Amino acid sequence: MQSRFPVVWWCIWLAAASPLGWMLWVVFGGAHVVADPPKYLTLALADAAVILLGCTLMVSTLRRRMGINLIRYRRMLGLWTFAYATLHMAAVLTLLWEWQDGLVTLSKRPYALVGASAWLILLLLAATSTRRAQKRLRRAWGRIHAWVYVAMVLVLIHWFWLVRVDYTLPAVALLVAVVLLAERGKGAWRRLMG
Ligand code: HEM
Repeated sequence: MQSRFPVVWWCIWLAAASPLGWMLWVVFGGAHVVADPPKYLTLALADAAVILLGCTLMVSTLRRRMGINLIRYRRMLGLWTFAYATLHMAAVLTLLWEWQDGLVTLSKRPYALVGASAWLILLLLAATSTRRAQKRLRRAWGRIHAWVYVAMVLVLIHWFWLVRVDYTLPAVALLVAVVLLAERGKGAWRRLMG
């Protein structure tokens, strides 16, 4: 759904789409700059999903703390988060071909299950993101959409669990998540519990 400010809408849409364009160019652009395209896509798509999840969560903080109202663009950001997370999952499936005995290898990585749980929540949020669903679900809609905080926590667990050496990026994401949750305070918990 486009907003009353189509220029802003398209700017945000392009900003959200551009990492995908970049990744496709890097992989299929003929420059052959990455040695392992499935691995590169898995990680780059995951990074984009996490960044967009953070941007989606920041929308209401920006409104409350700074009076910047981007609420009308929040659904689009959420849908892009879901799109990148789904593509990340698809890229993991292509990795399974690379790993010998792919499914066995994946079963030895329980963090993948945590990622899958986060993805299921994002799926539920995307499926109920329409105005019609909002009207139909009424009060329950707010409670369902507060599950975005649970998705965020699961993504952080997924990330910390899989990292072996450099914890800088997940630590930065954790810091942002703590700030966002602290800003919401008890409100997030109350919404989640109904
Ligand atoms: C069924 C769902 C998922 C599966 C099977 C899965 C699996 C994986 C695997 C195997 C990796 C490591 C790849 C490697 O190091 O070779 C990974 C990395 C990652 N995943 Fe997932 N994932 C899932 C869902 C998600 C979701 C929903 C998000 C975020 C919204 C996410 C965020 C990340 C992040 C941030 C990384 C690390 C990226 C980096 O190190 O730069 N994953 N995932």
